Amino acid sequence: TLAQKDGYRFFMEKEIYEQSRVMSETMMGRVLDKGIEFEELSNDFFNGINAIKICACGTSYHSALAAAYLFERIAKIRCDVEIASEFRYKEPLLTQDTLFITISQSGETADTLEALKMAKGAGLKSLSICNVDNSSIVRESDAAILTRAGIEKGVASTKAFATQTMVLWMLALYVGQQKNSVPTELLAREINAMLHTPKALIVTDTLHTKLHRLSKRYLHGHGFFFIGRDIFYPLALEGALKLKEISYLHAEGYPAGEMKHGPIALADSELFTIALMPKSMHYEKIKSNVEELSARDATICAISSVPFDLADDFIKTQYDSHPMLEFFEMMVVTQLLALEISVRLGNDVDMPRNLAKSVTVE
Ligand code: G6P
Repeated sequence: TLAQKDGYRFFMEKEIYEQSRVMSETMMGRVLDKGIEFEELSNDFFNGINAIKICACGTSYHSALAAAYLFERIAKIRCDVEIASEFRYKEPLLTQDTLFITISQSGETADTLEALKMAKGAGLKSLSICNVDNSSIVRESDAAILTRAGIEKGVASTKAFATQTMVLWMLALYVGQQKNSVPTELLAREINAMLHTPKALIVTDTLHTKLHRLSKRYLHGHGFFFIGRDIFYPLALEGALKLKEISYLHAEGYPAGEMKHGPIALADSELFTIALMPKSMHYEKIKSNVEELSARDATICAISSVPFDLADDFIKTQYDSHPMLEFFEMMVVTQLLALEISVRLGNDVDMPRNLAKSVTVE
């Protein structure tokens, strides 16, 4: 298996390092100078569609949450997101002007598949974003966009999440184009940022070494809070999920502005806060949220391109010209942090206890 891991210690590690390369695959033939193209979608695919509902589980659900911000902001289309196992039993009100999107790495998750069948039963048009061609979810959908991440072996999803989020970002721009709601300037800005994404995903030795060293200070404590705002809130959820999955430490993702409504009561030096502080998105707002936590003596690990005086640990990022570049760069940081903590604790990174790669039963 060493060969398969190409010299990496774990599949998860290999897959983190692969992200830069597979992202180019994900964009190939789709991100063009003039805009986004999806040969999978007919030109009239979005005719009559006024809203989007996304359904998914686990990590795929987190990419959906990030996408909801992008669909409303870029495409100006209403978008809501539901956990598949909740959606199935809530007797949802569905209207046929809603496109039903499912997101799934495997294409076999039982809850997501059943949610899709339900939406189809209600007459909704469906689109899946999936990593496995010809999977059940792909076959069941009216159209499918493949993420092209390649086989993902680590149970803790990394490159699948990255490529799902990229497809959703592209799709938001695509819908905007179709609806003529994207100003030329915005289009150029988004395309330019997309083309820079593979660069933001490169793992440098400096970063990996830094996270390896830093991880030894985060092996105990009474819990982690990953905090962020806007699209960095779903990223905080995903960062916390990665850590939970492979370190078995308690971690939560939380919207930074919501900490004062309860969780800040937990703050003391044993509370580890992983603060996602993007320069290009609500920086002053997140900064003041982190300052409040620091004033209560929480231990702060700040991830930002902007030096932050109150941080106990500071991880400097480089690509801060666009929120999505910051998103992807910070994603890599949280993945590697979880990996290094898990390794130090002696856990099985690729096969964490109690978890399965694909959950085909309810
Ligand atoms: C399992 C995996 C997760 C994954 C979730 C959804 O719980 O351990 O990593 O996010 O299923 O899987 P899917 O294949 O539908 O994305």
